[in-house]
Amino acid sequence: MERILVGLLLLAGWFSLSTCRQYHFVNQSSTWSEALTHCRQTYTDLASISSVDENNELKKTLNSAGHSSDVRIGLYNEVDWKWSDGFSSSGADYRNWYTSAYDPDFIGANQFCVNIYQNGLWLDTECSSKLPFVCYIGTRLAREFVFVNKSTDWRSAQKYCRESYTDLATVSTDAENKKINNLTNKTLAWIGLFRDKKFSWSDGSSFQFSSWDNVMNEIGSMRIICGATSVTRSVAWKFLSCEKKLPFVCYSLPPEAKQAMKMTIESEDSVGLNNPALKANILKKLQDRLEAKGVSGVSLEWTEQAGRKQAEGDKGG
Ligand SMILES: *[C@@H]1O[C@H](CO)[C@@H](O)[C@H](O)[C@H]1NC(C)=O
Ligand SMILES: *[C@@H]1O[C@H](CO)[C@@H](O)[C@H](O)[C@H]1NC(C)=O
Ligand SMILES: *[C@@H]1O[C@H](CO)[C@@H](O)[C@H](O)[C@H]1NC(C)=O
Ligand SMILES: *[C@@H]1O[C@H](CO)[C@@H](O)[C@H](O)[C@H]1NC(C)=O
Repeated sequence: MERILVGLLLLAGWFSLSTCRQYHFVNQSSTWSEALTHCRQTYTDLASISSVDENNELKKTLNSAGHSSDVRIGLYNEVDWKWSDGFSSSGADYRNWYTSAYDPDFIGANQFCVNIYQNGLWLDTECSSKLPFVCYIGTRLAREFVFVNKSTDWRSAQKYCRESYTDLATVSTDAENKKINNLTNKTLAWIGLFRDKKFSWSDGSSFQFSSWDNVMNEIGSMRIICGATSVTRSVAWKFLSCEKKLPFVCYSLPPEAKQAMKMTIESEDSVGLNNPALKANILKKLQDRLEAKGVSGVSLEWTEQAGRKQAEGDKGG
């Protein structure tokens, strides 16, 4: 087993060296989908960035093109607000955002939980902030609200509400919002609205590195927001409307990254590698390891050769 682990480490190192992306600045004002189409036709995809090294490569590309203002990258985020109790009937889309403060403003791309503020207005906030909260008891059709004046993060508030009452407060009408506002007495308090922290790259690679700009990302009523960056903001990332027209950056992969490779796995136990479950498990471990390193598009399979059994990796297939 020890040898197999060593093999995994070497393989992961080899791939992350060889998959460094080459970026290409395209000076054509485009929506995010127009940019995506262009990149897929001309290169590989819109720019995805999986490390600080790649982010610096992107910066070099923009600097040498002499472009300092916003450019699109392949990053996007679906905005899918949900209630803690899963409520999705009529009224589930009731909102009372503090729009004059630009909320939901998704500051620093790190605000996924919602609290109620003075005058019953809502703010998106970092889920780790410590705030009192509002639970409800009863059914989804006959809710009574309970204010819990203990400051805690959103997850712990949810747990508390589920243990002591029904769940964190679902708010589906103005009347309910006023009731809650009355209870909280102008204190900031969590309600049950939240969204998952789900960032995606257009090429499907896993999201593992981030370089957020600590700015407002005004979401408004958009259902999807698209990533942008600029050298004037030290290639830190933010979100803008996907419809806004901006120049963009594509990437391509150096050709050698598409080569197939072989690795040999030695087992001290001669019977071990004949066990199909063990073989499947080894492939899965290799695949997970590569995914964890951000290497996608790799297919692995076993081949047999002159009495030896090998796992083959074929990148780019
Ligand atoms: C991009 O195009 C605009 C006009 O469409 C031009 O003003 C600008 O200089 C160009 N920028 C670069 C970096 O080529
Ligand atoms: C708010 O509280 C006041 C006094 O505590 C009460 O008179 C009023 O009816 C309450 N409003 C709502 C909507 O519950
Ligand atoms: C509301 O807050 C004020 C001051 O912040 C306090 O004097 C008052 O007792 C509070 N009311 C309730 C119902 O907690
Ligand atoms: C919550 O507790 C704080 C003190 O811990 C108090 O100042 C505040 O008025 C309380 N709020 C309500 C609505 O009871």
